[in-house]
Amino acid sequence: MSGEMDELISAARRARERAYAPYSGFNVGAALRGVSGDIYTGCNVENVSYGLGICAERVAMVSAVAAGEQSITALAVVTADHQLTPPCGACRQFLAEFAPDSLPVILANLEGLSEQTTFGALLPRAFRAFNTRTQ
Ligand code: THU
Repeated sequence: MSGEMDELISAARRARERAYAPYSGFNVGAALRGVSGDIYTGCNVENVSYGLGICAERVAMVSAVAAGEQSITALAVVTADHQLTPPCGACRQFLAEFAPDSLPVILANLEGLSEQTTFGALLPRAFRAFNTRTQ
């Protein structure tokens, strides 16, 4: 794992510590790197109206866009789960707006276990803007 990836995992770990997940008790941290090199983080934020909760990955993506970054070069997701946690389906579709198939995605846990995959492997044949064009 490169130093840049380690840095992204560390940022996601720190974001995870800020998770607000009193209902599930499952804290998630995410970190994205933009083409500028800057890192944007997110944690899951739940709500007593359960369906309103938002995942760490979407919080990180929204934070990047709000800061002016729409091109991302890597994503890391950290949980305490031994099995590692891939982004949920809703987050995959949300990220598909900005993530190329080649985007490196790192799944990591607090034990130091990590696995690297790509966005395209997680969401093959993503529904993207060009699919809505008729000609
Ligand atoms: N969650 C995330 O933040 N990211 C994921 O990739 C999977 C699920 C959150 C949603 C909810 O707050 C908690 O984890 C349990 O599902």
